[in-house]
Amino acid sequence: MRYGSKVLFDDVNATFSAGRRYGLTGPNGAGKSTFMKLLTGELPPQQGNVVRPDKLGVLKQDQFAFDQFRVVDTVIMGNHRLWAALQEREKLYEKTDMSDEDGMRLGELEGIVGEEDGYSAESDAAILLQGLDIPDEFHERPMSELQGGQKVRVLLAQALFGQPRALLLDEPTNHLDLDSIHWLVEFLVHYEGTLIVISHDRHFLNAVTTHTADIDYQTIITYTGGYDDMVMAKTQIRSRIESQTAQREKKIEQLNDFIARFSAGTRSSQVQSRRKEVERLQTNELARSNIQRPYIKFTINRPSGRTVLEAKGISKAYDDLQIISDFNAVVTRGERIVLMGRNGLGKTTLLKALLADSPNLPPAPGDVDAGTVRWGHEVSIGYFSQDHTGQIQKGMTAVEWLHQFDPDAHRQDIHGLLGQMLFTGEEGLKMTDALSGGETARLLFCRIMLQKPNVLVFDEPTNHLDLESINALNIALQKYEGTVFLVTHDQDLIEEVGTRIWRFESTTVTPSAPVVSVGDGRQVEDFKGTYEEYMGVGK
Ligand SMILES: Nc1ncnc2c1ncn2[C@@H]1O[C@H](COP(=O)(O)OP(=O)(O)OP(=O)(O)O)[C@@H](O)[C@H]1O
Ligand SMILES: [Mg+2]
Repeated sequence: MRYGSKVLFDDVNATFSAGRRYGLTGPNGAGKSTFMKLLTGELPPQQGNVVRPDKLGVLKQDQFAFDQFRVVDTVIMGNHRLWAALQEREKLYEKTDMSDEDGMRLGELEGIVGEEDGYSAESDAAILLQGLDIPDEFHERPMSELQGGQKVRVLLAQALFGQPRALLLDEPTNHLDLDSIHWLVEFLVHYEGTLIVISHDRHFLNAVTTHTADIDYQTIITYTGGYDDMVMAKTQIRSRIESQTAQREKKIEQLNDFIARFSAGTRSSQVQSRRKEVERLQTNELARSNIQRPYIKFTINRPSGRTVLEAKGISKAYDDLQIISDFNAVVTRGERIVLMGRNGLGKTTLLKALLADSPNLPPAPGDVDAGTVRWGHEVSIGYFSQDHTGQIQKGMTAVEWLHQFDPDAHRQDIHGLLGQMLFTGEEGLKMTDALSGGETARLLFCRIMLQKPNVLVFDEPTNHLDLESINALNIALQKYEGTVFLVTHDQDLIEEVGTRIWRFESTTVTPSAPVVSVGDGRQVEDFKGTYEEYMGVGK
């Protein structure tokens, strides 16, 4: 499989055996999601073929894709054949004048619905949902009302619906807090079919997988063991490949030397044969490791005033569930606030409430029920939202998309910035429709790097990023001179970036810092210090 000149897979053979749990690893853009699409049949391979069981359970990388559907329907969609038949049947029933053909078609459809256990679909779906801890009152509601951890559970139910023999999951731990990840590990370890799971989370992979299929060098190599075992084995193979490459390059150099020296002379047949050898060596040498680290650096155009934000009496409820209540805070320039805590306690809600009335961010991402937010003098905000859907318009190249945020910037500078974020050369001309999860995130960072805001508001920025990129982001945030609001579940980021902690907890927990909001069953603590210092206070 290749896109343009970028070869993802060249003559790959791989087998996934029943009862094993495979991690599918590789850096951003290596081709993990693409490979999964080849496995499921969503994409046809340009060469070669795939043999698969007739039912596969699939969880895709975009967990927001089903937001407009009801929870129970989302689950039933896991059985494509059934779902398509149900949809078509409904349309036919809605018709006022049904033709003979329609009648015949209805008969066929009823047949399919029967074969696929369609008459018990809703109750089967409900049983799965209950098993995955989604309470009954949510089943009829739209997906958009669920928070991240619950969405993943519903999408798992979708993947499991219809009892597939294999389960294919693309980055299931994105948006999950630690407790939910533990739950998922337990769940998957007990799964009896074949599991193939893509993830950038090392701990998760080590806990779940029995084998690792690593995508690199335009091929897939399967190792026994989890992520760490793979890295060890791969390092050995890699140093061997790299020393071979080095030897080859040396050989090419010598041959070229010879050619240069004697091409004008009498030894033309020898020169000719050496030219051939150089050609052969060069075509051999194409496959390189594609692990690379981007260079992320956030600078500021001009500093904001000393007081960055004053929030007074902020409240926000969904229906009758009070999430944030009478929240008060003053934020000073240069503070790096980490918002931490379990899924669903209101971190994103608070951020969006603070952005309800923000400079340079039309349209406002959220709203408030009560209270006032005052952003300080000359504040400019760079916002990285949790849901990337629609953030990057389709139908243009990465360069064009980026350029519109600073039309005065030289094309060269845009290319430089993109190159720094690993969109080198032709990669920058890639259509935005084609971006992988990690590439989308990297391009969104490019925009913020171009705009040079003095406040960063980042909501779970490490989802979709590979290890190298997470490290680069960590360093960039530590070096940033502006003010940071950061939601994350990443322990390193919490410990190394934060200079102030907003901790979201349930009210059963005894706080160790001043409480600045008490909602239904939940509270927010505000601690002016690092996470390490905060943990010290708790003892
Ligand atoms: N339709 C397409 N046209 C051109 N290039 C594409 C297309 N689809 C995918 N690509 C490119 O192929 C590469 C592999 O994409 P893929 O989504 O499989 O990566 P991935 O390994 O899942 O990465 P991530 O970890 O970021 O999710 C990327 O560089 C992507 O931009
Ligand atoms: Mg992917």
